[in-house]
Amino acid sequence: MTNVTDQDRVLIFDTTLRDGEQSPGATMTHDEKLEIAELLDDMGVDIIEAGFPIASEGDFKAVSEIAQRAKNARICGLARANFADIDRCWEAVKHAEKNRIHTFIGTSPLHRAIPNLTQDEMAEKIHETVSHARNLCEDVQWSPMDATRTEWDYLCRVIEIAIKAGATTINIPDTVGYTAPAESADLIRRLIETVPGADEVIFATHCHNDLGMATANALAAVAGGARQIECTINGLGERAGNTALEEVVMALRTRNDIMPWKTGIDTTKIMHISRRVATVSGFPVQFNKAIVGKNAFAHESGIHQDGMLKNRENFEIMRPEDIGLSGTSLPLGKHSGRAALRDKLETLGYEIGDNQLKDIFVRFKELADRKKEVFDDDLIALMSADDATNDHLQLVSMKVTCGTGGQAEATVELEVDGKDVIATEHGDGPVDATFKAIRAIYPNEAHLQLYQVHAVTEGTDAQATVSVRLEEDGMIATGQSANTDTVVASAKAYISALNRLIMRREKAGPGADAREISYKDLT
Ligand code: KIV
Ligand code: ZN
Repeated sequence: MTNVTDQDRVLIFDTTLRDGEQSPGATMTHDEKLEIAELLDDMGVDIIEAGFPIASEGDFKAVSEIAQRAKNARICGLARANFADIDRCWEAVKHAEKNRIHTFIGTSPLHRAIPNLTQDEMAEKIHETVSHARNLCEDVQWSPMDATRTEWDYLCRVIEIAIKAGATTINIPDTVGYTAPAESADLIRRLIETVPGADEVIFATHCHNDLGMATANALAAVAGGARQIECTINGLGERAGNTALEEVVMALRTRNDIMPWKTGIDTTKIMHISRRVATVSGFPVQFNKAIVGKNAFAHESGIHQDGMLKNRENFEIMRPEDIGLSGTSLPLGKHSGRAALRDKLETLGYEIGDNQLKDIFVRFKELADRKKEVFDDDLIALMSADDATNDHLQLVSMKVTCGTGGQAEATVELEVDGKDVIATEHGDGPVDATFKAIRAIYPNEAHLQLYQVHAVTEGTDAQATVSVRLEEDGMIATGQSANTDTVVASAKAYISALNRLIMRREKAGPGADAREISYKDLT
C-alpha cells in the first residue's frame, strides 16, 4: 500500500499512457509505450498508470511488460466496475514489484443513468468490485467518475463504502473539467473531514482542462488535503487534456514558499520526456505552453533581452537548466565528429548505442552539408524523425514542379518491399501532388487527419518538422520527419505514417488493433 507518512510529500501519478493515450490520435506503439514508461520511472514518477488492460490485447501486453520492467514506480492498470475488467487488470499488473488496480464507476446522476442503476444498486456494485480488487491486490485505487458533479451526500456515501471495502487511494476526478480552484480545495477538505475512514487513505485529484483550470484545480486540491496528483506529460489527454505534470511539479518547486509540498520528480528530465511524448503521440507542444513550450524561456523583445543580460531574474522565475534545457547552445557543423555529436545528444537527454550513433551521424552529416550550423533543435528534430530502414515503403527520389496557378506536378519514386515504383500526379500545390503520387504507388483508404509543419530554427535554410496523422478503419498512425525541404519532409512523414499503419495491421491481424472497448465508454 502506498502510504504517505510525510504530509509534505505529494505523489505524482502519471496517466500519459492511459488517459493521455486515449485522446483520439495519440495512440502509441508498444515500443513507444515501453520507452515512455522507462523515462517516467527514471524521472521519479511514483505511480504510472500504464493502460487499460481489458481494452485490447495490445493494452494488456503493454501494461504487463511495463510491470515487468519497472524499477521504482508502482504500476497501475485501469478497470471498470466488473470482475472481468479487474481480473484482467490484475493479470497485467501482478508482475510489478509494486502494483495497483484502479477501478472506477461514474457516480453523477448523468453517469448513473448510463448503466441504469439506482443509487443503492450502484453502492452494492462498488462494494463488490472494490472488495474483489482488494482480494487480489493490496493497493487499490477507486474513482467515482464525474465526482465534481455527483450529489454531495451520495459522494460521501460511496467513498465510505469504497474505503470499507479496502480502497487505499480515493481519487476525485473532475472528469469534464467543470470545477474551479476554490471549489476543488473545498471539496477535498470537506470529504476528508466528513467521510469516516478518510484519514486512513490517500485522496487524489484528477483534473481535466476543459476550462483551462486543470493545473490550478489540482494544486488547490492539494491545499485541501489531496496527496496525489494525477497528470500527464504535456497535459496530453482527451479534449483539452489533463493536468500537465510539468506544470504542477514546477509550480510546487518554484512557489514552495506558498505551496509547501514536494514531489520526487527529477525536474531536469522534464524537457526530454516532453519532446519524446510530443513525437510519439504526434501531438506537438504549442509554442507558448508553460514550462515546455518552445518560447517558454525565449526572450525576444529588446527590453526583455536587456533586462535578462543585466540580471536573469528580471524575467525568469525558473532556470532553463532546471527542466533540462541546456543554457548555452553552441551549434555543431560539418566538421564536428562523432564524439561531439554523442556528447551533444547526451546533454539533450538521448542515450544512444554505437549502432544508432552510426546511423544518426550519417544523417547529421547530410544535414550539416545543407545547413552551415546545426542547432540543438535541429538535432532534436533529427532524433524525432522516423527514418527506419526496414520499412515496407522507402522514399528513393522525388521531383516536384510548381506552377504559378497553384497546380503542381510531383514524380515520386518509392521502394515498395524492395521493388522500385514511380508515379507522377498533379495536385493543388506541391504537397497535395506528392501525397497523390504516393497514393498512386501504394493505394490506400487512409484518411489524412492532421498535417502540420513547424520551422525548427530560423532562416531560409531552417529545417521543417512535419507531422502527419492517418486514420484507416479506426486505426491511427502518425509519422514525423524533418528536412530543410518542407515537401521532402512532408513526403517522408506521410510515408512513415503509412509504414506504421502497415506495421500495425500486420501485428494485430484483421481488425485486432482497434480497441474492443472504446475509451469513449469511459468519459
Ligand atoms: O476523467 C476521469 O474520470 C477518468 C477516470 C477513469 C478516473 O479518467
Ligand atoms: Zn480522466
